[in-house]
Amino acid sequence: MSDESGGRAQPPRTWEVEAFTVFKRLFKIIEQYRLQTRPGKYIAFQEPEALKALLDLDRKEGLYDWDLIFSWVEQYLQYNVVTHHPRFLNRMWSGANLPSLVGEIIAAVSNTSAGTFESAPVSTLMETAMIQQMLELVGYPKGEGQMTTGSSNANLIAMLAARNQISDSIKHEGIFSEKELFAFVSQDAHYSLDKAANIVGIGSRHLVKIPVDERGRMDLQLLETNIQAVRQSAGVPFFVCATAGTTVRGAYDPIETLLDLRDRYGFWLHVDGAWGGAAIFNPELRSRFLTGIERVDSFTWDFHKMAGTALMCNILLFKDGDILRTTARVGDTSYIFGATRETDDLNPGSFSLQCGRRVDSLKWFLDWKYYGRQGLAERVAAYHQLCEYAEHLVLQSADLEMVVPRESFNVCFRFVVPDTVSSNGFNRKLRDELHRREIGLIGSGYIGADFCLRLLIANPRIDEPEIAAFFQALISEGNRLLEQP
Ligand SMILES: Cc1ncc(COP(=O)(O)O)c(C=O)c1O
Repeated sequence: MSDESGGRAQPPRTWEVEAFTVFKRLFKIIEQYRLQTRPGKYIAFQEPEALKALLDLDRKEGLYDWDLIFSWVEQYLQYNVVTHHPRFLNRMWSGANLPSLVGEIIAAVSNTSAGTFESAPVSTLMETAMIQQMLELVGYPKGEGQMTTGSSNANLIAMLAARNQISDSIKHEGIFSEKELFAFVSQDAHYSLDKAANIVGIGSRHLVKIPVDERGRMDLQLLETNIQAVRQSAGVPFFVCATAGTTVRGAYDPIETLLDLRDRYGFWLHVDGAWGGAAIFNPELRSRFLTGIERVDSFTWDFHKMAGTALMCNILLFKDGDILRTTARVGDTSYIFGATRETDDLNPGSFSLQCGRRVDSLKWFLDWKYYGRQGLAERVAAYHQLCEYAEHLVLQSADLEMVVPRESFNVCFRFVVPDTVSSNGFNRKLRDELHRREIGLIGSGYIGADFCLRLLIANPRIDEPEIAAFFQALISEGNRLLEQP
């Protein structure tokens, strides 16, 4: 079929035969890919320009040539990061759970949009059932929920819902005739809140960033002072987003005290648990980090992070029913979703910000059924223990030091350098070299002015020997770099 010489290539006529051979070939590649991981490396590193040349991205299109297509598939896998490899320590997610991978493949093969029961009968029922399970898990007997594309969007929807509680007319009239609205987050909150402030029309200047205490948690005295100042200047403090597990330090803002403030000042209290919200599965970790969560107004967390479901998979829950639905419902959607109030549960598209919705419920449902709450509770507890172990190794090592003590899951540390060497510069270089030399990819961030290496464990294939071996390799690389002229 390939014809690069100028003659027009023809599409194949029999879809079924084509699909059969394509799937056979595809599954063979997937099998090889998964088998090769151990003791393989997590990357075959190439600099961007070299990789671009290898990929030959400008080749002629429209050739109906499966050999060419599969050559890109193989290259993709060859040069991509192997996220299920234990040395991929960079992100809050890793290679996906197998049940969810099955779900993801089936969702792609069946390719429909999870907007209505009509177009996605099974996924709609699965989504409703899973939301019900999560409402029970969190303790929202009268609540409602929705799957979104991730915590960034969930934070946006929560802020929008809070904004719409200000007055009955705001949804239609906008914020033009309202008093000045102010939202509050800690200075370590995720940047999606800045975007949300931009999108809901208050502007990022009206997102007040509250300094954190020495443990990285929102300073609630300063929050209260800021809320009072806003009220004194006739503004409206309408929304506070607490972070349950900040991105760099893993700090949990104190929910119970925030609830007291909420009751005193009447703002909407949302919890962004994108990362640390997974503590909800484990009763011990829940009571340590999320006490009071069943009383906050809304709560989101990502199944695609610690729980390991294939990207993207998120749940947003509201404590009280009907706000989420009323928030997003504007304009006539019935010509697409045919939705009436009575059929909302079967038409999630009608109260989503998107029109087309990926089927994310299937992979989530399969993971939940496979591992169960107990399995996920054990996973999160194991990650927590491994983080404790990693911190212990850092504290024992003469070459490493913690930048700040560990709050929960994130281990923020650095290689110790002599006074004559810049710690930030050296540790940034060390991180890059570890990746370039295919030793490991680790997260990073700043705490104040200090650059830190940030170890995140979100991979069930990581155990204590893997962590010890990684630190060993990191220390040797650090010493090698130090010795370089
Ligand atoms: C605290 C926090 N909130 C929100 C997000 C955004 O999540 P998502 O990628 O699902 O949009 C992240 C991502 O790392 C995060 O760490």
